[in-house]
Amino acid sequence: MKIISVVGARPNFMKIAPFIRAIENYNKLLSTPLSLGEGLGVRPINHILLHTGQHYDGRMSDNFFTDLGIPAPQINLEIGSGTHAEQVGQTMIAFEKVLKQEKPDWVVVVGDVNATLACSVTAKKEGIKCCHIEAGLRSGDMNMPEEINRLVTDRLSDLLLTPDKISSENLRKEGTAENKIKFVGNVMIDTLEFNREKAAELKIKDIIQANILEEQNDKINFFSELNEFGLITMHRPSNVDVKEIFSAIVNWITEDATLKLPFIWPIHPRTVKQAKEFGIWEKLISCKNLLLLHPIGYLEMLRLNMQAKAMLTDSGGLQEECCVLGTPFLTLRWNTERPVTLLEHGGAGYLVGNNIAAIKRDFEKLLTEPRTPKRPELWDGHAAERCVEEIVKFKD
Ligand code: UD1
Repeated sequence: MKIISVVGARPNFMKIAPFIRAIENYNKLLSTPLSLGEGLGVRPINHILLHTGQHYDGRMSDNFFTDLGIPAPQINLEIGSGTHAEQVGQTMIAFEKVLKQEKPDWVVVVGDVNATLACSVTAKKEGIKCCHIEAGLRSGDMNMPEEINRLVTDRLSDLLLTPDKISSENLRKEGTAENKIKFVGNVMIDTLEFNREKAAELKIKDIIQANILEEQNDKINFFSELNEFGLITMHRPSNVDVKEIFSAIVNWITEDATLKLPFIWPIHPRTVKQAKEFGIWEKLISCKNLLLLHPIGYLEMLRLNMQAKAMLTDSGGLQEECCVLGTPFLTLRWNTERPVTLLEHGGAGYLVGNNIAAIKRDFEKLLTEPRTPKRPELWDGHAAERCVEEIVKFKD
């Protein structure tokens, strides 16, 4: 069986790492003398990793391959930055050529980025089976590019591997055939569990020194000694693309939140660009209790998250990691495709949108919350093994 799996942007890398490991283990098992596959016609998996190149710089891409032990992709489409149509269109054109040449049995896509959409559409048009890992997540917000990507990919995919039962139910409500839906658990948590010990060995001081923005050097000593700090990550268009919204959040962070808890913020390139354009970059740089870092590696983020007293985020993956680590968090969005991470579903977070009054109110609550790790069903570190199993036993 030949599989091409696809990655494109930062949040894909932690999802594909355990899947590749599970394929390697599956092949190893098949090659042992007493293997179950012997005589049954079961073949090893020939796996090709393809990177579309949507995220291309070291801090957004290469470092994750090193940190997570992902082999270098055999194919890189190098599509780089662009508008959504440019990224999706160029990926489809290049991916179609790859499919014609490689003729895989399956294309496996993960998550909800532009690569996920482009490659699932291209695979189906080439008559190739498509499997979506992390299927069924729905925010219900059609203004999110990721929601469009999820809907199209799930509608087209032959095998939908879901991280939680709410996602399986979303697919059923949309009329997806029952035999296509398999609840396997969360591959992100496979990666977290696999790397927990390695991350714990990192020193916060070293993380700060390796990633600090040059303009921030005077803050190194203060932050290196801190035991209690919060973390911020923010890059969604809904927060950083509208000047009034982004400025209000920055004002609250610099003039209020950081007085109660010092914050570390590994800042996304899109956020830096918007802050400079809106004239609020100086405010961030000069805030005494706020430390801006370049985008950091997976292990570094995990290490900071293990110790953080609170997290303010608009990232989907971080909500899941906070839930399992027990870091109390605010989701700076009006909706989430990951309700299972929220307090009302047994998780660790509050959904607060970008209304400052709501953020302020729930931030006060957050400061009094103890760290209480939560573990949704099948977030057990073995989801990727179940993904491979479902692909191998799939029948049309
Ligand atoms: C993408 C994903 C989003 C994910 C996010 C995580 C889609 C639709 N969105 O959004 O789901 O949460 O990645 O990072 O696929 N840039 C760099 N270096 C890079 C890559 C990008 O500087 O390696 C810059 C680009 O020039 C661009 C900006 O970052 O200005 C945004 O990159 P882009 O890939 O278009 O989308 P994200 O907003 O990162």
